[in-house]
Amino acid sequence: MIWGEHRGEVDDDGVLAAYPWPDEGPWVRAMMVTTLDGAPAGPDGLSGSISGDADRAVFRAVRRHADAVLVGAGTIRAEGYGAMRAQEADAEARERNGQRPAPRLAMVSPSLDLPWDTEVFTGSDEVPLVLTVAEPPAEALARAREARAEVLTAPGDDVQPGWVLDQLVGRALRRVVCEGGPQLLEAMVRAGLVDEADITLSPVFAGHEHVSSSDGLAEVARFELRHVLSADGFLMNRYVKA
Ligand SMILES: NC(=O)c1ccc[n+]([C@@H]2O[C@H](COP(=O)([O-])OP(=O)(O)OC[C@H]3O[C@@H](n4cnc5c(N)ncnc54)[C@H](OP(=O)(O)O)[C@@H]3O)[C@@H](O)[C@H]2O)c1
Repeated sequence: MIWGEHRGEVDDDGVLAAYPWPDEGPWVRAMMVTTLDGAPAGPDGLSGSISGDADRAVFRAVRRHADAVLVGAGTIRAEGYGAMRAQEADAEARERNGQRPAPRLAMVSPSLDLPWDTEVFTGSDEVPLVLTVAEPPAEALARAREARAEVLTAPGDDVQPGWVLDQLVGRALRRVVCEGGPQLLEAMVRAGLVDEADITLSPVFAGHEHVSSSDGLAEVARFELRHVLSADGFLMNRYVKA
C-alpha cells in the first residue's frame, strides 16, 4: 500500500482487510479496471487483457465477503463468467456474518439474451438472479423460465437501478459488488447508488473500440480516495463516495 492508512507490504489477508464491508447495509461497491486512456477492455474486447495478477487478487478479495455480484448482460456475454462457488477459506467468516456460503450472481438484462447453458447458470451454488423489464421478448422469456435462474420483471419498460437494489436487499443481499460493465455502472452512479469505487489503473493504452454508447451524467459524482495499492505497474485505488 503506497497511500492510505496501512502503508507497507500487504499479503492476501491484508488485501481482504483493505476492502472492509460496513456492518450495516446496503453497500454497493463498483469494481472496474481501466487503461491509461480510460478504456474498460483491451483490443480483444475483454477486461482480462488489460488486467494483471495484482488486479485479479483485489477482484477475488472483494468477492470473498460479498453477498451479490451485480453485472450487466453485456459483461456476461463478453466475459464468459465462470460458476460462482463457495470457497472453503471463507466458510467460517461468511457463516459468522450470517451470509450464504457463496455470493449470488445478479444480472440486468432487458433483452434476456444470455448464455443460459453455461456454467455461470448451471454450476453456481446460488441460483442466479436475472432482472429484466416488465415485457421482455416473449421467446426469450420462455427460454429464461426454463433456465436455472430466478427471473424478476420490473414494473415498467426499463430496469431502474433503485428497483434492482431493492430486489437484492429484499433477499438479504446487502453487500453488493458491481463488476460493471460501463453501461450498468453509469446507471448505478447516475442513480446515486454507488458507495465505493474500487478502480484499478492498468499501465496500458487500448483505444475505445469496445466502449458502449452512454447517456452521460448531468454532473460529476465525486469520490474520495482512501488507499492506493501498487504492484507490477498497476494502481489499485479505493474511493468512497464524498
Ligand atoms: N474493465 C472492467 O473492469 C470491465 C468490467 C465489466 C465489463 N467490461 C467490458 O465492458 C464491455 C461491455 O460493456 P457494456 O457497457 O455493454 O456492459 P454492461 O453494462 O455489462 O452490459 C450492457 C447491457 O446490460 C444491460 N443493462 C446495463 N445497464 C442497464 C440499465 N441501466 N438498464 C437496463 N439494462 C441495462 C443491457 O442488457 P441487454 O443487452 O440484455 O438488454 C445492456 O445492453 C465488454 O467489453 C466487457 O469486457 C469491463
